[in-house]
Amino acid sequence: MVVRTLKWIGGIEGFLEIIDQRKLPGEYKTLRCTNVQQLYDAIKTLAVRGAPAIGVAGGFGAVLALKKVPAKASPASAGKLKQARLAEDGESRRALAVLKRDCEYLASSRPTAVNLRWAMERIEKCAKSFVGRNPSANLTQMRKAVLAEANAIFDEDVEMCLKIGQNGVRFIKNGSTILTHCNAGALATAGQGTALSVLYEAKKRGKRFKVYVDETRPLLQGSRLTAWELKQAGIDVTVICDNMAGALMSEGKIDMVITGADRIAANGDAANKIGTYSLSVLAKEHHIPFYIVAPSSTFDLKTKTGNNIPIEQRPADEVRFCGSKQVAPDEVKIYNPAFDVTPAKNITAIITERGAIEGPSVKKIARHFA
Ligand code: MRU
Repeated sequence: MVVRTLKWIGGIEGFLEIIDQRKLPGEYKTLRCTNVQQLYDAIKTLAVRGAPAIGVAGGFGAVLALKKVPAKASPASAGKLKQARLAEDGESRRALAVLKRDCEYLASSRPTAVNLRWAMERIEKCAKSFVGRNPSANLTQMRKAVLAEANAIFDEDVEMCLKIGQNGVRFIKNGSTILTHCNAGALATAGQGTALSVLYEAKKRGKRFKVYVDETRPLLQGSRLTAWELKQAGIDVTVICDNMAGALMSEGKIDMVITGADRIAANGDAANKIGTYSLSVLAKEHHIPFYIVAPSSTFDLKTKTGNNIPIEQRPADEVRFCGSKQVAPDEVKIYNPAFDVTPAKNITAIITERGAIEGPSVKKIARHFA
């Protein structure tokens, strides 16, 4: 039913295959990332996007990074083609240095979604601990351990998506109309999505509902991706322009708002696609419940409030053009923040793979993860 947005093909010499989301919905094409630079570009230009998906992709990026570290022959066994042990002659230092540099490079491609940095830190930690525990292992064995960790991040994401759907389904009332923003679906994760996973689960359980999706300018993730994905899944979906949500709410046409998140601070403030904050204010004004749906890898408990979340600024031409059509003059100044922050006070509940945090606060979030 749901699309698989990315998959690793092969062993340690393999590559990452992703659906090229820049081309949807017009063309369904896959893209192969065989090295770190290709993956960096794919993340930066949103060929692969969505907080959990870029975290999973980053994990595989570490496997790509280690491809370019040549294995040395062990001096002790010269002539017998035996690989050097990690403990020999700076072998592990060389591999860990490449990994550190490339993980940092990949993490810098998109600064707001914490899942990417989280995955890169997790992989680096795994590689260091493998070296510490296995000094007599060789580089190939270390690369296998890194691939296993990247696969674990992928599998956990699939599992988290399913659980999120199951935990959120109780909030979907039969016969309701739901508004979503951007794309928090299968295209944005390794599994069946976060916010959209809740909808898939509701459909599976026979609930009836309709979905409105904001087109989500400037890059149209709502109209290009969410509409495409929900249509594939047989869900009743209607696209609206971003500036229509308030009118629909005032006409009583929206029963709930549900979106994903890119980073959630310790107090529950949540960064998500630009426009989410305005929706939360509108929802509050109209007494409409507003839900954020995200896995635990999207929480950044070291960041105290939304004020400390870095907001990615994107190129002006994303606003100056809509597709290939120029919609603003060459000379005009353009401001293009990719995300905004919804304060916790506007959020009815945050749904995670562990359950739901209703009326999120520092205390409740700490308890949720205790
Ligand atoms: O710029 P994008 O398309 O990567 O932004 C994506 C979003 O804002 C999503 O809502 C968020 O990452 C959650 S995806 C499960």
